[in-house]
Amino acid sequence: MRIYIFDTTLRDGEQSPGVSLNIQEKLEIAHQLARLGVDVIEAGFPIASPGDFEAVKAIAREVEGPVIAALARIDTRDIDRAWEAVQYSRKPRLHVFIATSDIHLKYKLRMSREEVLEAVRSGVAYAKKYCQDVEFSPEDASRSDVDFLCQVLTAAIDAGATVINIPDTVGYATPPEFGRLIAEIRRRVPNIDKAILSVHCHNDLGLAVANSLAAIENGAQQVEGAINGIGERAGNTALEELIMALYTRKDFYNCELGIVTEEIYRTSRLVSSLTGMPIQYNKAIVGRNAFAHESGIHQDGVLKERTTYEIMNPAMIGLVQNNIVLGKHSGRHALRQRLEELGYKLTEEQLNAAFARFKELADRKKGISDRDLEAIVAHEARRVPEKYILEHIQIATGNRIVPTATIGLRMGNQVIEEAACGKGPVDAAFKAIDKITRIPVGLKHYSLDAVTGGKDAVGEVTVKVEYEGRVFVGKGISTDILEASARAYVNALNKVIFEVGEENIKHANGAALEEA
Ligand code: KIV
Ligand code: ZN
Repeated sequence: MRIYIFDTTLRDGEQSPGVSLNIQEKLEIAHQLARLGVDVIEAGFPIASPGDFEAVKAIAREVEGPVIAALARIDTRDIDRAWEAVQYSRKPRLHVFIATSDIHLKYKLRMSREEVLEAVRSGVAYAKKYCQDVEFSPEDASRSDVDFLCQVLTAAIDAGATVINIPDTVGYATPPEFGRLIAEIRRRVPNIDKAILSVHCHNDLGLAVANSLAAIENGAQQVEGAINGIGERAGNTALEELIMALYTRKDFYNCELGIVTEEIYRTSRLVSSLTGMPIQYNKAIVGRNAFAHESGIHQDGVLKERTTYEIMNPAMIGLVQNNIVLGKHSGRHALRQRLEELGYKLTEEQLNAAFARFKELADRKKGISDRDLEAIVAHEARRVPEKYILEHIQIATGNRIVPTATIGLRMGNQVIEEAACGKGPVDAAFKAIDKITRIPVGLKHYSLDAVTGGKDAVGEVTVKVEYEGRVFVGKGISTDILEASARAYVNALNKVIFEVGEENIKHANGAALEEA
């Protein structure tokens, strides 16, 4: 049986707290999802914001291969807006939803079951006038009365729905129960053969992948989820886990997929990097420990025969292990070649920037590993135009002195210098940068990760800053973690300037910054 993979990283995934992607970032992820071979990309919820609308439109116009879906509540205004954005795709889909559980009807919608039924009939029919491919979701299906649910699904298919999606919206279901629900729907909805049966599971009890697999065992043909399992609250079905379960246990599930598994690792890194959502080390498939063997017995076994302790070959997800390490004598050609082997095709300009950064790092660090290269590319290939460039940083810190930072930022031909004290060296550096840029942002998140091990490891800093309710992610890398921190902060501020527009920034005065 062929299972269709519906990716909602850019819609439900983007609803993760603290995640906010701009159009360029969404497009980059959508292109990568197309390379991964997903069948459907849910590009956004156009009525939700002008940014969502423009992103869906851009993805519909540019991204070829997968079906492009836009989400809408089941009312005419939402559906009009969703169609306005998604109509440009060669394969558009309108995805309409309304809740069906009594708890949602009573407290959220304040509608009777008859009213919901009528809304489904008229809403699906309305969407169908625009688009041949209409997906219908009864929100909170797993907590809905099954008789009513089956009635609603029958009506939706009669009105023209081509895909029926069963969400476990609050992640309440358990695998045997969810499997039984899917089997019951197949048995009791008389016209179910006219539609593709899909599932959409949330991970509140950590069961989203297990529930999706139970649904497949009971006849579900499409699974919705997000890369790295991101999404509302505890997230959605982690697609990389579901996909590799189906591949690795083909003997059990006997399913076909259209996925290029070798693109999984790269897709996961891209999503993590652009959303600023780290991947837990022991995360299945894409966590950094997923293929690491620590105990002597395991290492010995794997060296003798990989399959003793490895059920998947890391190469299958595109994790290429390589012993060739680039260093300060490596040239531009070698860098380009290695990046291409890793699957990165950079423009000349991006390659130049990556090469400059590579040389700087290679001067300070003996060998530059593939992970280091990925960090360089993640940072350099996605640089927004830089109003400010970190020119120099000097920090005095210790446990008995007030940390003080002196920062020089290049702005065109000028270098502007400021100094500030802070509660710690990073705080001091950010305050000095604030004095130069005077952009009143709030720091929402700061994290530091060592890209590889060792004393000369490259540190990767991620910051999230908020400006007028919008969140901007900045990244910086260096063997010096304070320099990486300053680079990340400047990167985030450059993004604010680029996206909000220089002319729209309300600069803070010195006093306000001192108070902050
Ligand atoms: O979780 C949910 O119910 C949803 C629907 C809109 C499909 O995301
Ligand atoms: Zn959802």
